[in-house]
Amino acid sequence: MTTRREFLGQAGMGLAAATLLPTARALGANDRIRIGLIGAGDRGMEDLKTALKQPNIECVAIADIYSRRRDMAKQVVPNATMYDDPMKLLESKDVDAVINATPLHLHTKYFVAALQAGKDLYSEKTMTWDIPGAVECRKAAAASKQVVQIGLQHESSGELKDALQWIKDGKVGKVCSVDAWMSRNTPIGKGQWVRPVPSDCDPDHVNWKLFLDGRKEPKFDGFKYINWRLFWEFSGGNVTENMVHQVAWIITALDLDLPKSASMMGGVFSEKDKRQVPDTMMVSLEYPDLLVNWQSTFSNSRYGLGEHFLGDKGTIQHVSGSTDMVTGRSQSSITYLPEKVNNPETTVLKGESKDTDHMANWFECIRDRKQPNASVDNGYKSAIAAHMANLAYRQKRRITLEEAMAAKMDAYL
Ligand SMILES: NC(=O)c1ccc[n+]([C@@H]2O[C@H](COP(=O)([O-])OP(=O)(O)OC[C@H]3O[C@@H](n4cnc5c(N)ncnc54)[C@H](O)[C@@H]3O)[C@@H](O)[C@H]2O)c1
Repeated sequence: MTTRREFLGQAGMGLAAATLLPTARALGANDRIRIGLIGAGDRGMEDLKTALKQPNIECVAIADIYSRRRDMAKQVVPNATMYDDPMKLLESKDVDAVINATPLHLHTKYFVAALQAGKDLYSEKTMTWDIPGAVECRKAAAASKQVVQIGLQHESSGELKDALQWIKDGKVGKVCSVDAWMSRNTPIGKGQWVRPVPSDCDPDHVNWKLFLDGRKEPKFDGFKYINWRLFWEFSGGNVTENMVHQVAWIITALDLDLPKSASMMGGVFSEKDKRQVPDTMMVSLEYPDLLVNWQSTFSNSRYGLGEHFLGDKGTIQHVSGSTDMVTGRSQSSITYLPEKVNNPETTVLKGESKDTDHMANWFECIRDRKQPNASVDNGYKSAIAAHMANLAYRQKRRITLEEAMAAKMDAYL
């Protein structure tokens, strides 16, 4: 995680570049922050509603390429200016800060453009669709004085605070292995993430060219536009949808850099729909003296989501939505369990720290010009780990960091 000192260093570097950039309006504690939303789909609207719950926040602009989504957003923020093209929104002097909740393949474009336009930024995860994008975004952030929060909300969780404390207190010891998992289920015949295509989803109502952003699709495809998560051109599958959240907080808890290598096995096992991305997988990320394993399935939800940090002095067990094998109850908790062989302390501890509201943290940092909880550095490292897994899967082999960093766009398509 970028330290405050590093952040101030970046901000300092940004000052030279900032003379070339539009200056952000100085915002005091009581000033209203005027936000714009790019991508008013499911998550964008959730983010917007969360943002509007905070004091002194006004949404002044929305950009979405689908008229239906603009109409729906208008019902929530009737006074906001509606745009088709996000670049027009970014030109507006009335917008201080931007939420970017577009499909994955568009993250880099609007990330970089928002910073160049002098806007503070909340950019949904995964930070980017590919590794060159992650490099570009990190560079853009280092050359900017804007405040950037990545939509990796586990970075604001109470569980992370508890885990960091137990690790700092020496309770966990040396961790050689982290086992993580995430599982969901859907009704038989309905694949995970598949959404119906509305009747007005056609070229008259959707700016297909702006969606494609240079990708070569011969003609409008409403299924692909609505269900972009299923296709490599626009998505990284479940590794960029969910693994990234878990890997990001593992990176912070254990202060990890980039994996040395990655492998991933799996396939489309659950529903043979039109998807390209696998629905079942096993990922291994090799860090120095540490293996992080993550497995996922979409046809059984029994184990929910969780991580076990397996230390020689103790285990950190985090579960969320998992089903108790005996009682059948769902539970969310973080627990510390000592390893008696190296740790005479036998006390089991329950985490009690409270979550911080991730969106509120962004606004607070905009006012104080501080580093938010989910830094660009964390976004960069977690994105690269996720893309290494996908590259290994696509190439059917273990891939090294050096090979992944050199991979060109074709490797992701
Ligand atoms: N942090 C989280 O927990 C979390 C949860 C869900 C989704 N997400 C992320 O949020 C993002 C959006 O996911 P979603 O489920 O809302 O997708 P979605 O398809 O529902 O919404 C995307 C919206 O972007 C619009 N769009 C597409 N191209 C555009 C362009 N060029 N300019 C402006 N708008 C454009 C679409 O019309 C659509 O309204 C993804 O990156 C996803 O991974 C994060």
